[in-house]
Amino acid sequence: MSKFFILIETDFILSDFSLSKIQEGAVTWKTPSNIALVKYWGKQEPQIPKNTSISFTLDACFTLTTLEFKLKTKLQPEFNFEIYFEGEKKDDFKPKIEKFFERIEQYVPFLKRFDLVIKTRNSFPHSSGIASSASGMSALALCIMSLEKLIKPTISQEFFNKKASFLARLGSGSACRSIEGELIVWGNHSKIEGSSNLFGVKYPYKVHKNFKNYHDTILLVDEGEKQVSSTIGHQLMLNHPFAQQRFKQANDNVLKISEILQNGNLKQFIEIVESEALSLHAMMMTSNPYFILMKPNTLKVINKIWEYRTITKSNVCFTLDAGANVHVLFPEEEKESVNNFIINELVQFCQENHYICDRIGLGAKRLSNI
Ligand code: DP6
Repeated sequence: MSKFFILIETDFILSDFSLSKIQEGAVTWKTPSNIALVKYWGKQEPQIPKNTSISFTLDACFTLTTLEFKLKTKLQPEFNFEIYFEGEKKDDFKPKIEKFFERIEQYVPFLKRFDLVIKTRNSFPHSSGIASSASGMSALALCIMSLEKLIKPTISQEFFNKKASFLARLGSGSACRSIEGELIVWGNHSKIEGSSNLFGVKYPYKVHKNFKNYHDTILLVDEGEKQVSSTIGHQLMLNHPFAQQRFKQANDNVLKISEILQNGNLKQFIEIVESEALSLHAMMMTSNPYFILMKPNTLKVINKIWEYRTITKSNVCFTLDAGANVHVLFPEEEKESVNNFIINELVQFCQENHYICDRIGLGAKRLSNI
């Protein structure tokens, strides 16, 4: 077990004196989503990934969360909170948050001492089929860390970010990759310095200029609830006949992509990224029960991208989440040509022509002082 884990576990001895100085306040964080280049698919308790993953932090797809807190007048054994989503009180979100609070309680024992109101909204439409758990859970984790910093102002920025990622992971695995930018590694890897199973870390080596301002245009091929939640998908890896081979493939791909991120070879980048997306879907197709998460239009988009690459020698490529929507990735210098290609050839496959133009981002931002 890492030193950091022990540090988090034992770090808090809260005096009533330090709490009594804090009566009430609010903090707001804007936290991005992320897209994995090498996928996290398979985990064990407590939210430990079976393989290392690496992601681009996004920018335009984000969650905005305000945490209002007020010191309780009397001690209560339970959490007391309300949650509002896009202005509406959402009691059906409460069990998920309650479970998250229970999981993190031992690391943030002060939380129960406050009455809490969580107000949250996403920059992308609720029904778009874009998972909001990464941006949502990381935003809440950061708000809680701001409260911790108020109680204990001496904590360092490094500790703040690592612990925010640690907490976010306990809400949703991929959320631990949404604290910082631009490239984040999560999961121990012998060849990546500082990598950890417990929190996401910034990719530690110099990234080639080809990956600066990388674009991700998300084509909303199928809006609406996902057919299978990620949580169920991870569980299906437990008895999956190809699981061990998949975890090895992902760890090998992390090593390969790490070299590519430094040498800038876009052709090799495409091979890894597309193969990862298809391997993720292959796992779902070969699990028990099995699922096909792509839609006919997902395949049409993929074929169009391959055709366009053959004709133009472009470096555009695709990746997928555990759903039908397609992330179209391309370098900054191809921005105009690929945008034209997307508008002229790909948008027709999106539901109601919906798509989101995003790009690699710098990470979460606090929007208000306490
Ligand atoms: C396909 O982080 O949503 O997007 O840990 O159960 O909350 P939980 O799962 P989640 O899984 C994300 C899976 C993925 C691939 C990835 O982002 O690496």
